[in-house]
Amino acid sequence: MPPPEALARFQTLLHSALTEGSLIKLTLGKPRPVPHHSSLKNVFARPVVLKAGPRISLVYRYETRDETKNLQPAEAAAALADLLSSAFLDAHLFTSQQTAQLEQNADPAQPARLRLVASKNAPSGHPPGHDRAKRHLLDPAAPWLRALGVTNDRAQPREGMAHKFRQIEKFAELLRDLLAEAGLDTSTPDALPLHIADMGAGKGYLTFALAALLGARATITGLERRADLVAAANRLATETGFSSHLRFVEGDIPVAPAPVAPLDILIALHACDTATDDALAAGLAAGARLLVVSPCCQKELRPQLTAPAVLADALRHGIFQERQTEFVTDALRAQLLECAGFRTKVFEFISTEHTAKNLLIAAHRIHATEDPAFAAQRTRLLSRARAFAAFYGIREHRLARHLGVDLTS
Ligand SMILES: C[S@@+](CC[C@H](N)C(=O)[O-])C[C@H]1O[C@@H](n2cnc3c(N)ncnc32)[C@H](O)[C@@H]1O
Repeated sequence: MPPPEALARFQTLLHSALTEGSLIKLTLGKPRPVPHHSSLKNVFARPVVLKAGPRISLVYRYETRDETKNLQPAEAAAALADLLSSAFLDAHLFTSQQTAQLEQNADPAQPARLRLVASKNAPSGHPPGHDRAKRHLLDPAAPWLRALGVTNDRAQPREGMAHKFRQIEKFAELLRDLLAEAGLDTSTPDALPLHIADMGAGKGYLTFALAALLGARATITGLERRADLVAAANRLATETGFSSHLRFVEGDIPVAPAPVAPLDILIALHACDTATDDALAAGLAAGARLLVVSPCCQKELRPQLTAPAVLADALRHGIFQERQTEFVTDALRAQLLECAGFRTKVFEFISTEHTAKNLLIAAHRIHATEDPAFAAQRTRLLSRARAFAAFYGIREHRLARHLGVDLTS
């Protein structure tokens, strides 16, 4: 039986995208109800440049594992055409000219739908794959940047959004470096999939940046308490082809001991006051190996902070009290993460000229907390954190409470 018209047109588009080099990415989803493919959930395709030359990388995502095959474009076209007609109902194709979305029906008597949208997914002349990723970490022409109001249709920052654009770019650069430091690099074809949560995701600027940076190898969940932001971000994820690996969920950052799904990376940027501690604790409980937070509105410790005598005069000034509270709160967070077996870095991730909320705490796991070889070091680190807290009169700190650390003992 000849393929239905929508499927045939989609296969022609896919074949041209693969052989002419305009493919940005393809996602196959919604498995057909056939038993022999039952544990295959998705297939993702994207161009890569390997030592052997340009290839199409196909990631077969099964229930519990991923398999990667790097094929010549013509071989990939044949494999994907076969998967489309035998194993999957839905397909989402992104090329430098357009996006095409195919929705087939499990009942062959029902017609399939094909939607085509012209796009500027990639400026012409960019080499594909790893090479392209190095030169343009985030594509300024990406539809998600435009839809979020960051760039215009000439791929330039819109008026008043240059700082946001820079912040997003900087964040992507930082994350790439932090992933490499933590041994979580995703750029090799055999890299394991990563599970990431961005807690307090807001409109999702930085969540989308992560999805664009890491591609389908990372499954990203943006958690946000505002239903309107969640609905808008999910809509955008679908429209821009990210929905197979990026979703937004409405809810509050879980407060321990609420159960949390396993995670590799926890991100919480500008989650107010103790929401940062709750997010860190949720990441630790979920087994995250990399924690990245940008704290703000540190209020918790202010009523407890007693100035050491020598600082009393300086701390009569409100602004110094505020800065002192921020410093003590975040310094203790960093120390407590070290006590939990993490190597911690604290730095400004973008100049204060762009935003005052620019401190980043990044921590990656180097010891299992229960590792006997870490026990003596942990005891020393804990006693230093307690001495620091005592110096500033701090008895309670939300992260310490989450970690079961009594700062006064
Ligand atoms: C300042 S915005 C930051 C958004 C985003 N992370 C960024 O840096 O662009 C903080 C977001 O966190 C959300 N939020 C604050 N506390 C939260 C909580 N406990 N649970 C879930 N979301 C929370 C707010 O609704 C808001 O959208």
